[in-house]
Amino acid sequence: MKICCIGAGYVGGPTMAMIAKQCPEIAVHVVDLNPQRIAAWNSDTLPIYEPGLDEVVREARGRNLTFSTNVDEAIAEADIIFIAVNTPTKHFGIGAGRAANLEFIEKCARQIAKVSEGHKIVVEKSTLPVRTAEAIKRILSSADNGATFDVLSNPEFLAEGTAIDDLLDPDRVLIGGESPKAVQTLAEVYAQWVPREKILSTNLWSSELSKLTANAFLAQRVSSINAISALCEATEADVDEVSKAIGTDSRIGPKFLKASVGFGGSCFQKDILNLVYLCEHFGLREVADYWEQVVIMNDYQKRRFAERICRTMFNTVSDKKIAILGFAFKKDTNDTRESAAIYVCRDLLRERARLVIYDPKVEKETIVSELLSALSDLSGTISDLDRELVESNVTVVDNAYDAAIHSHAIALLTEWDEFRTLDFERIYQTMQKPAFIYDGRNILDRQALRKIGFEIFAIGKSN
Ligand code: UDX
Ligand code: ADP
Repeated sequence: MKICCIGAGYVGGPTMAMIAKQCPEIAVHVVDLNPQRIAAWNSDTLPIYEPGLDEVVREARGRNLTFSTNVDEAIAEADIIFIAVNTPTKHFGIGAGRAANLEFIEKCARQIAKVSEGHKIVVEKSTLPVRTAEAIKRILSSADNGATFDVLSNPEFLAEGTAIDDLLDPDRVLIGGESPKAVQTLAEVYAQWVPREKILSTNLWSSELSKLTANAFLAQRVSSINAISALCEATEADVDEVSKAIGTDSRIGPKFLKASVGFGGSCFQKDILNLVYLCEHFGLREVADYWEQVVIMNDYQKRRFAERICRTMFNTVSDKKIAILGFAFKKDTNDTRESAAIYVCRDLLRERARLVIYDPKVEKETIVSELLSALSDLSGTISDLDRELVESNVTVVDNAYDAAIHSHAIALLTEWDEFRTLDFERIYQTMQKPAFIYDGRNILDRQALRKIGFEIFAIGKSN
């Protein structure tokens, strides 16, 4: 059997590496239009940082795992074709700011239709609006060289930072499709290492909708606890204590109740906006409003954090130096998409703060480009003033101590483990006084820091 995957990103790369590792008899060919990305997959420095990924790739690459830009060749040879291209939120035209941009998916489908012969199973791996499979099917049916297709939905539930464990031991594998034979063929691949009872099959639309719903529920939990964190700050309650107390109720459970500066990542916001757009399309106004509130609450949480920094630093951060620790949307990834850090930094820059940013895995170019696009309008245009602001007020350094030197405040925005064990005595000596710390992830020992002399503010804590 031969498998091809179109899209060598955070989803396609790790997922295919795991299939290749677990199924040595299947030839897995991952293709991408981006030659730099493919070159990186073929090098010792993979394009994405993911714990444990190096070992998996090293084991399978060159044996039954290939990365290349030969899209047509890989499609033509494959029995199963995964589509794992990106589906960002549209930023133009109808549905701008809400609907998914399906341009890349449609281009893939057209390419598959053009070069395929015989029978192929086409698998949607990217998160997509419900009923996208229908569009893919229609495009594929226009193939004029006699090829036939089954379309399956097989959403990916891995979380970045724990992708390898999630792929090795998934809670479930979901396969939606109309043809039992095609579903069976794909199920056989996963059954090489996933217990049969964890492989669920549904109809196409249930599978597509389950992915959006799972992410909406997870994000909703984070927004719910973040909403309570605002109330905790206004009262004497402590959000971590509330979280623990409610999490012990087995009906609620302890996971995804960690209050934070706001959720980020390529999925949560995009999927909820997709859900909202879909509900609006079907005239379900109340349902759309219900889910949209999860995103509104998340925006509020990010904005509130930046405002709290300004307010507590005597109502001005203009020309003050603020050390930003962490820029990725969570620990153990170099992904910055929709990271809360982007929006907190943007708001601080608009107040004319000087930012010195450190993240263990994110490149300087990525940080600068995220900030430039956050300061741009929907069409991607940035004013000269804002461009100048990024150029003159943003510095990226390669360790936390350098970030903190001479700073007025530290804002911790990603929960990287190394930040827990920093030498804060040393850091305190090098900072301006009063020295402020804003812990956006509630990972620091507030009492110990207060003893050193810091003024510390955390999420959902009133003092
Ligand atoms: C998510 C889903 O978990 C995964 O199943 C899906 O396939 C893709 O989207 P991911 O975005 O990679 O995965 O990371 P996740 O661990 O879900 O975290 C998302 C965001 O929520 C991060 O910014 C994280 O810091 C934040 N978060 C998570 C909290 O603020 N508090 C929590 O308790 C949990
Ligand atoms: P995700 O997190 O969903 O994996 P990424 O942006 O990390 O998203 O990866 C998607 C990849 O898909 C990118 O590397 C992009 O170059 C690739 N891609 C997009 N369209 C096509 C296409 N038509 N053919 C091949 N690769 C594509």
